[in-house]
Amino acid sequence: MRVSRKVVISRYGGPDVLEIAEIPVPEPKPGEVLIRNMATTVSIGDVWIRSGQLALPFRKKAPKSPVTPGSEVVGIVEKIGAGVSAFRLGQLVAALTVSGGGYSEHACLDQNEIVAVPDGIEPDDVACLTLNYVLAYRMLHQAAKVRKGESIVVLGASGSIGTALLQLGKVSGLDMVGTASRTKHDFISSLSAVPIDYRHKDFIQEIKSIHPDGVNAVFDGAASDIGKSYSLLRRNGRLIVYGFVSPQPKQMLPRLMRLLALRLVPDGKKAAFYSLLLAHRKNPQVWKEDMAVLFQLLRDKSIQPVIAHRFPIESIRSAHETLERGAVPGRIILTMNS
Ligand SMILES: NC(=O)c1ccc[n+]([C@@H]2O[C@H](COP(=O)([O-])OP(=O)(O)OC[C@H]3O[C@@H](n4cnc5c(N)ncnc54)[C@H](OP(=O)(O)O)[C@@H]3O)[C@@H](O)[C@H]2O)c1
Repeated sequence: MRVSRKVVISRYGGPDVLEIAEIPVPEPKPGEVLIRNMATTVSIGDVWIRSGQLALPFRKKAPKSPVTPGSEVVGIVEKIGAGVSAFRLGQLVAALTVSGGGYSEHACLDQNEIVAVPDGIEPDDVACLTLNYVLAYRMLHQAAKVRKGESIVVLGASGSIGTALLQLGKVSGLDMVGTASRTKHDFISSLSAVPIDYRHKDFIQEIKSIHPDGVNAVFDGAASDIGKSYSLLRRNGRLIVYGFVSPQPKQMLPRLMRLLALRLVPDGKKAAFYSLLLAHRKNPQVWKEDMAVLFQLLRDKSIQPVIAHRFPIESIRSAHETLERGAVPGRIILTMNS
């Protein structure tokens, strides 16, 4: 029997609850493809799953059954189920796994969920595109509908999604400001945005002094004060909130209520929350179109994911510890089968 490893969380807690389980390599069902996974990202959402912060109140100690996080599978087609004609053995493919499962050496996925990766693209880069860049691309072009020459503010710009917003914003010819901790300002400048320190200054006033008439769009990945983020907009401006500093309902719910209230103000501005995972569940096909655009931008070297660290699957605990220290900008990649 061939063995495959995956990370499992059987109880909530610190990085020590991340265990490696050994299982038989799964068999693809009709219409499925067995993928030998090579890369997935390690994100703050995975930490929230691990620590039980996303758990329902009556399940605060442990999930109902062991959970495997990981929002991407990027790897080689190892076996093809009956009725699969679109993929061939040995091909590099990618999938956005909205229900998790990326922290696994093998995954069987429906052929309709998968895209083929063009030659010459690294699996680690694909793992970054699959969620972070697709989300950033959608927020810019579908939610905020930015146009060349417009001004934007990215709150949480040094984060993985913030970085993707800035790189894609540069491709679209936007005038950009990004908030980040002081130590990451050179990094923000290197992405063609004006860095603003949100920790030690009145950063809202500082942004208003750069853009006294307001900006066209604000992308808020922290939602610390949605009213202040909204105040940065000019007429017809768009606020897109996509993340929170904490997922605790008592933190998130008042912010979502505030967002709803702002939507009712008849001032010509717009405010919305954008969730890629919800959008992908509704219409998974658009993701493939977005990936095709992003593959081209990557091949043109118009975008380049920033990778801070790579950890093999057996070092998953160190990967989570490193993420939680939060010192270095860029994505952490979990590698498998390398
Ligand atoms: N909507 C969706 O579909 C979707 C999908 C995935 C993730 N998300 C959410 O998106 C958010 C960002 O994810 P990520 O992976 O980019 O995270 P990340 O790489 O960990 O970056 C988070 C960034 O937030 C900044 N930050 C922390 N506290 C802040 C505050 N109070 N005000 C402003 N900025 C602050 C940090 O900046 P410094 O380090 O410079 O201080 C850090 O760069 C998370 O809430 C995540 O859950 C949303």
